[in-house]
Amino acid sequence: SKLVEIPSPRHQAYFGLLGHAPDLDPTLPVRTYWQLMDEYDPIYKLDLGMTHPRVFVGTRELVDEMADDSRFTKFTHRLHKEMSSVVGDGLFSAESTSKNWWKAHRLLVPAFGPIGLRKMFDDMQDLSAQMVLKWDRFGPEHVIEAIEDTSRLAFDTVGLCVFGYRFNEFYSEAPHPFQVQLKEAAIESGRRANRPEMLNHFYYREEQQRQENIRKMKELCKKIIRDRLENPKPDANDLLNILLHGVDRETGEKLSIENVEYQIPTFFGAGYETTSATLAFVYYFLCNNPKVLRKAQEEVDQVVGDKVVTYEMLPKLAYLDACIKETLRLQHPSSLLTRFAIKDTVIGGKYFIHKGQMVSGVWRHFHRDREVWGEDADEFRPERMLQVNFEKLPPNAWKPYGDGLRACIGRGFAEQEMLINLAMILQKFDMEKVDPDYELQLRGQMALKPIDFKIRVRRRPGRS
Ligand code: HEM
Repeated sequence: SKLVEIPSPRHQAYFGLLGHAPDLDPTLPVRTYWQLMDEYDPIYKLDLGMTHPRVFVGTRELVDEMADDSRFTKFTHRLHKEMSSVVGDGLFSAESTSKNWWKAHRLLVPAFGPIGLRKMFDDMQDLSAQMVLKWDRFGPEHVIEAIEDTSRLAFDTVGLCVFGYRFNEFYSEAPHPFQVQLKEAAIESGRRANRPEMLNHFYYREEQQRQENIRKMKELCKKIIRDRLENPKPDANDLLNILLHGVDRETGEKLSIENVEYQIPTFFGAGYETTSATLAFVYYFLCNNPKVLRKAQEEVDQVVGDKVVTYEMLPKLAYLDACIKETLRLQHPSSLLTRFAIKDTVIGGKYFIHKGQMVSGVWRHFHRDREVWGEDADEFRPERMLQVNFEKLPPNAWKPYGDGLRACIGRGFAEQEMLINLAMILQKFDMEKVDPDYELQLRGQMALKPIDFKIRVRRRPGRS
């Protein structure tokens, strides 16, 4: 069949050499990607200084193709190389062909399953209780920037439930240095990977700063591991024992200490901003849709009442679960699902993709397919998630956690953490936006998050 050129907007005048880079929204590049997808739907490409222009796709069908592991891979060797001093061959960044990925995957999949999650329940609840207590103590006049406290929760939850380490974010004003170091190191690594390699030599100071961040992170990772080895806790409910002592059934081997060190920033990188942003988005949609908020509270009243939420109650919180699923459909925290072509290939029957070319699926667009979700696909309507049969959905109609071998290992972890928090907060408080006209504003380099989304909470009548 005949090939068709992938469309591309014209560069701004005078900046020809820099390609489309100057055209991107400086505070939020993804906003430009969204606008262009509205215009060029279902595909366009941008010249961003890579060997081949970067391709963006906006339909479920095209995402089906880039999700095909026989033609596309998660990695580019440059990004891989730059990130490797941070996350090495941790679970997120090891190649699927590597022995260490398989070892960690086999050890951790069951650990993130129902038995593991049940063990983490009490610690997750403990951290949500800190949030409830804080909101209660500050009282109904206090203005809460939602993302700040969901961030405290999500960071502490990975720390405590995965590594048995308390960061105590609810007890401090500023974020823990580890959080800042990880963020800065990840951003600078991404920049290095996107610069022409030669130019990186000129970024000496940035590189020194990045190495300093990595060194400090490593110190804490080593300390967490050393503490556990010196003070064994055979009954701990976190995953650190499995990471340190678990024996892989296939190879009969444990993970190396070096590999465990890489898993620590890996789990924070993958599990913290994704969850904190999603939870803040859920609260945003609830505040914007008072009927949904009321219905969610009614469900909590029925299932939990004035008792303490238990593990057994979670599966009964179907409407809250639907609110989370609908939030992830409309407002995914990471906005792009990215792959690289392993070989020359054609997608959509007519668009040529070069070996090594970067292709990104735009979540906002491929999650709003009208054929699947109907004419109100842009609306927040959790009821649809109760009606839909996930088994029968076309592939990739809803895939906020990825799929296949490299799907999110922390899905159940994130869902449990968010459900517990929603149940405990809605049980106790009524909430509203401080500014009734506030509409979602996004920022973020690694994950998107809502900013200036401020709420007030008031203890519900009759709740002690
Ligand atoms: C992978 C989304 C929470 C750990 C992924 C991927 C997605 C995703 C889309 C696949 C990326 C790709 O294919 O390129 C999310 C979302 C979350 C969430 C939306 C929250 C709402 C978590 C949590 C953890 C976690 C809480 C850990 C505690 C991981 C890891 C991987 C991964 C380790 C890599 C798995 C592998 O490649 O073997 N996540 N995630 N995630 N996620 Fe999550």
